[in-house]
Amino acid sequence: MVPVTASLEVSGLAFAYPDGHQALFGVDFSIARGERVALLGPNGAGKTTLVLHLNGILGGGTGTVTVAGLPVSRQHMAAIRQKVGIVFQDPDDQLFMPTVREDVAFGPAAAGIKGAALEERVHTALERVGMREFADRPPHHLSFGQRRRVAVATVLAMEPEILVLDEPSSNLDPASRRELADILRSLDVTVLMVTHDLPYALELCPRSLVLSDGVIAADGPTGALLSDEELMRAHRLELPFGFDPKSVTTGA
Ligand SMILES: Nc1ncnc2c1ncn2[C@@H]1O[C@H](COP(=O)(O)OP(=O)(O)OP(=O)(O)O)[C@@H](O)[C@H]1O
Ligand SMILES: [Mg+2]
Repeated sequence: MVPVTASLEVSGLAFAYPDGHQALFGVDFSIARGERVALLGPNGAGKTTLVLHLNGILGGGTGTVTVAGLPVSRQHMAAIRQKVGIVFQDPDDQLFMPTVREDVAFGPAAAGIKGAALEERVHTALERVGMREFADRPPHHLSFGQRRRVAVATVLAMEPEILVLDEPSSNLDPASRRELADILRSLDVTVLMVTHDLPYALELCPRSLVLSDGVIAADGPTGALLSDEELMRAHRLELPFGFDPKSVTTGA
């Protein structure tokens, strides 16, 4: 059998912050190319800490993270930053150039892409998120939902192996939330999505991981996990009032 390289492989990952607070206690999971996976778990579970390990913003603990076969380590950092596109919870952590166009061009330009190829990258990424008419606007003049879309475009412009989103639906109005779901579904890319929005996880991600107290407490089909009342209670996961997870079919 030919071994299939996973998009993301996390093995035995443990990490304590410099103040001694241990956030991850041995995290193991693997995500195949093209999968969309939700990362669920209560406040303080370690989700953001885990995400920051995926492109080496945090490191120095034990265990390994491998992206498309490449270890996340200092000597591979440039390649890793290209392969792992992280959309942070707050778009203002991501957008800092005078115009939308420059923000979207920033990453690919730093990776050495120029001229017509760079223009094409920017154009395609903005088109994907429906923000092409905003190319010449300053990001700080846009609404939150528009900035979130531009933040997604900055990451798509890098043509990443895996797209990681930290609470992508937070602060979006219902139409923007649905439009972002449509965008994510239309992409042919591996997705790991941190979310407290359980219906969103169910709608978009056939598989979910539950991170709780710094370990993976569950890994399985999203519908099955959300229907497991004992598991949900144990990890402080709550569905919106009246929401029946069996009423939704997780679609590709
Ligand atoms: N810079 C830091 N220094 C020390 N401890 C930290 C630091 N950042 C986070 N922590 C701690 O690490 C644990 C995990 O935090 P993390 O932000 O990863 O949780 P989370 O699952 O993303 O939570 P949320 O759902 O609230 O975003 C928490 O107990 C938190 O207090
Ligand atoms: Mg977090």
